[in-house]
Parts: sequence; structure tokens; C-alpha cells
Amino acid sequence: MTLQTIILAAGQGTRMRSSLPKVLHKIGGKSLLAHAYDLAMQLGDNSVNVIYGHGGNQVLAALGELKTEWTEQKEQLGTGHAVMQVAGWIDDASTVLILYGDVPLLKLETVNKLVGYADKKGMGLLTVDLHDPTGYGRIVRNESGNVVSIVEEKDATQGQRKIREANTGILAVNGELLKGWLNRLTNLNAQSEYYLTDIIALAVADGVYVHTTQPADETEVMGINNRMQLAQIERAYQMRHALALMERGISLLDPARFDLRGEIESNGQDVEIDVNVILEGKIKLGNRVKIGPNVVIKDSQIHDDTEIFANTVIESAIIGQGCRIGPFARIRPESNLGENAHIGNFVEIKKTSVGRGSKINHLSYIGDAIVGTGVNVGAGTITCNYDGANKHLTIIEDGAFIGSDTQLVAPVKVGRNATIGAGSTITKDAPQGELTLSRCKQITIPGWQRPVKKRV
Ligand code: UD1
Ligand code: MG
Repeated sequence: MTLQTIILAAGQGTRMRSSLPKVLHKIGGKSLLAHAYDLAMQLGDNSVNVIYGHGGNQVLAALGELKTEWTEQKEQLGTGHAVMQVAGWIDDASTVLILYGDVPLLKLETVNKLVGYADKKGMGLLTVDLHDPTGYGRIVRNESGNVVSIVEEKDATQGQRKIREANTGILAVNGELLKGWLNRLTNLNAQSEYYLTDIIALAVADGVYVHTTQPADETEVMGINNRMQLAQIERAYQMRHALALMERGISLLDPARFDLRGEIESNGQDVEIDVNVILEGKIKLGNRVKIGPNVVIKDSQIHDDTEIFANTVIESAIIGQGCRIGPFARIRPESNLGENAHIGNFVEIKKTSVGRGSKINHLSYIGDAIVGTGVNVGAGTITCNYDGANKHLTIIEDGAFIGSDTQLVAPVKVGRNATIGAGSTITKDAPQGELTLSRCKQITIPGWQRPVKKRV
């Protein structure tokens, strides 16, 4: 059996009141459509076709590289009409899975069950019992409890509107059967749309049994129509991931105040994460890593026993073992910190490697630099790496001591065990082992008088 997945994503999403197509809005840092696509990919051998329409160019620009077919539905004449656009692509022998591009929390287990029901004699339909099913299609069953049809709210009788079992829209069906039923759809209904849901009554008429299954929880099938639902589903997504991380042995001080916008690819034991931490992209955390409050980390690796203090921002960096970073530090891309390095408050590091045991503890900017081991960089040290046109390298060799308030005008090198006097502007290489400084001689003017205010 081959699997073909169709993702319906042509709808406008008017209620988002956005210039961005609805399916490009994000949950957990990933677009709604990419969530549906990733789920399809998890199903294994599978070809995917995305039906797009509103904001088509934006959708293709953002997600065009996904390994999927793209089919444009120029006019949105209903969910059935959307699927008709790909009738020629559907193989008779395959199982067709219909997903919605605006339903991001659906789980693999749930979809797998549905797919398992689809053959020549049966199909799978995902339904959900809702406290308030207003707006949804309702599942109509006969006296024996078998599904006989789906009726859309706008076409439903008063009695049918009382049904609380709602259609999620997600279904799995044999390709040949589906194509036959698509040919028979009409738009003779309250919305003059071609409803995909009408295939249910056609299936029953043809003696195909409609198996139903329900999701583990309601959030799985929640679709996004407005920004309130976007926020609500974001929280559900975050809680699901927070709980999963705790199961992996990561302590989250408050799972309701943690945001993952990517994935933790690996983690050691006894990792502790304080409140309001945002982890983005691909993250690796070693054993006993501690992350303080309000820290943002993107695409980085943090090795064993490192502690990151409050309000630190780290991006595309490798932080070695036993480091202490922050509070209020900023580590920018292409930085690499060796074991036991210390980066303190109001220190910005960019494209710099810092050797084992080196310290840059206060108010500094170190960019485009190679800092050796055991180096001490004093408060207020600046690498002047940019001449207005090009970036230049600063090299600080092992054991050097840079006095406070030093400017290192790159390209420049400070030799091994060299000392730089505080307040220096270093424009030429400083030799190893020596004291180098550039400073005006201090003078005192004896008997100098402060000016006094003139009388008017
Ligand atoms: C649909 C179902 C309804 C179900 C509900 C669940 C039909 C007729 N009704 O209703 O039974 O309870 O979903 O949310 O199927 N789309 C297209 N092209 C179109 C129309 C829609 O691609 O021409 C896409 C939308 O982008 C969306 C999905 O199909 O991802 C559902 O469309 P929507 O208009 O939200 O369907 P509902 O009317 O809510
Ligand atoms: Mg609609």
C-alpha cells in the first residue's frame, strides 16, 4: 500500500486579519503548514501534495523547498473542490490521507490509526466530541451507531445541530474510491460549495464502512482561525513539549513559562532551566547545565557543568564545559568558548574563540578575535575590529593580561604572557612577556585654581 497525503491549505484565514497567509503563522517557531508537512513526513514512505491558494506566492517563497507537490486552487470552492484539483495525481491503489494546513498539533499515533482503516471496504474518519460544536460539521449516525453522513452546520436541522460529535476534516480513504466519489460531488447546499464531507454519504451508499477514531485530547484537532486560537494552541504546544522534556530528565522550574521554538537534539542529566527561557533552533545541552531566568539560546551547544546566568543571549555558539556566562552577556554567532571560560555582565562576544580558563568579566566587546588560554581581559576592553570597510582579526595569546579600558585596533596581536597597561590604545603588536602601554604622562599643575562664577 502506498500513501499519498493531501494538505488543504488554500483557505484565506480572513479572521487572522493578517497580510501573511494563515498557514505561514507560527506555532513553536514553525509555520502551521510545516507542522502538517512534518507530520506527513513522519508517516514514512509517502508523497505529499499541498493545495495552496490565498497568498500563494508568499507560501511558495517561504516553504517552496519542502519536498512536496504544490497544486494551486485558484478559486476556493470548497474542500471537495480542493481535492478535485489533484484527482489526476491520486493512484487507484494508494491510501489518501487528508490533512489540514491549519491544524498543527495532530499526533502521529492518531493519524496512523486512521490510515489503518482505509481499504476497499472501509475508510477512516477522525471525529471529536465537543462541548460546543458550533461551526463544525456534525457526524450523523443511524440507530446501530454507524456513521451515515456528515452535515455541515449551515445545512443542519435543529435536531442535527444538537449532535456534539464533530467532523475534524481529517480522513483516510482508498484512492480509487475517493476519485469515484469526487466525480459525484455537487454544490447544491447552503454555501454552494463542493463539500469533501459529502463523500461520507456516498461511501455508505456504496457499502464502504466509515470507521471513526477520536484524538487523545481536543487540542490535537484544533484548527487556527484567529489570533486567540493561535495563542491558545501555542500554549498547548509548549506544555506538550515542556512535559516531554521533563520526562527526558530536564527540570523546568515552571513548565508554563518555557518556550521551545525548535528542538533540543540531546540533553544530559540534571539540566535545570529557570523561568522565561526561550530555546530556538537546534540545541544541545550537556550534563548539569544550568540556565538562569530570561535566557535566550539559539542553535547552540552548551557542554557539561556550564552555568548561564540571567538575561543572557547566545546564538550559534559552542560553549565548553564548566563555563560561567552572564548575567547580561551576549554571545553572538561563530563563537566558541573553551573549558572554564568566564564571560561576565555586559560583555559581547562575536566570531571569537576563547581559550580554556580565560576571563572577560565586565563591559567588553570582543569581536573577530582569537583569545588563548588563561587570558584576563579587563573591564571595558574593546576590539576595534572594523575600519569602516573591512573586519580585522585580533589575536591575544595564552596568559596575556589586558588592562581595563584598552582598545585593541585590529589587525593586532598581543603576545604570550604580555601585559597591556590600563587605558591603552594598542595599534601595533605587543611583544610577549613585556608590559606595553600607550598613555599620556600624568601631570599635576600645582596651585591651579578652579574658575568661579561671574557676578552679573
Ligand atoms: C470543514 C468541514 C467541517 C469540519 C471543519 C473542521 C467541509 C465541507 N467541512 O469546515 O465538516 O467540521 O472543516 O475544521 O469540509 N480549504 C481549501 N480550499 C477550499 C476550502 C477550504 O484548501 O476551497 C482548506 C482550508 O484552507 C482549511 C481546510 O480546507 O485548511 C478547511 O476549510 P474551512 O473553510 O476551514 O472548512 P470549514 O468550513 O470550517
Ligand atoms: Mg468554510
